[in-house]
Amino acid sequence: MAFSQDELKQQVAQAAVQYVKSGIIGVGTGSTANYFIDELAKVKNKIDGAVASSEATAQRLRKHGIEVFDLNAIDGMDIYVDGADEITEHMHMLKGGGGALTREKIVAANAKDFICICDETKYVPVLGKFPLPVEVLPMAKSYVARQLVKLGGQPQLRDFTTDNGNIILDVHGLNIANPIEMEANINQIVGVVTNGLFAARPANILLLATNDGVKTIKK
Ligand code: A5P
Repeated sequence: MAFSQDELKQQVAQAAVQYVKSGIIGVGTGSTANYFIDELAKVKNKIDGAVASSEATAQRLRKHGIEVFDLNAIDGMDIYVDGADEITEHMHMLKGGGGALTREKIVAANAKDFICICDETKYVPVLGKFPLPVEVLPMAKSYVARQLVKLGGQPQLRDFTTDNGNIILDVHGLNIANPIEMEANINQIVGVVTNGLFAARPANILLLATNDGVKTIKK
């Protein structure tokens, strides 16, 4: 039987809740993360609360009566659970379709394990078909765009302001043969806040929803 993409997202969210034991949970952003929040609400008595990777996620957590902690008020967390726009067998991810990449990377950095929850359409041999989001300080927009062209990309300004008050350039056409190197190179451009490659710190566990069930892939 073929499941819809939404059904797959819900199934993978349910699978991720099995990893929720206690303490504070790092929570990502996007439609798959939203399903996870709804599942997390069902076990909220097991946990102290959550750290949110965006204002939208914080709002949804609070709506469910889950306490949202300031990241600076806590001392790390066991797991961070989030979706991705693309992920490879090496657990390198491309993220930021929802524009929350910077806070996602910060919260993830504070977690022992990154649990990536995806439906199988996100599992790709090579990153980069999905345009790479780059968060940029507004005054650096044109400079950063020119540098991204030098790296072989075609940046497009998204009609969007991030939770941090910055802009997003979506970079099309990049050849991301080496995601760790590309992540570092783009972060070197002055004016870039973060880029959507999550390769230096890959996922530790991938829960991949397929029509044959949710598969667990560990690095
Ligand atoms: C949000 O900024 C992104 O990094 C999301 O994790 C990513 O876009 C996946 O979103 P969906 O679960 O909605 O596909």
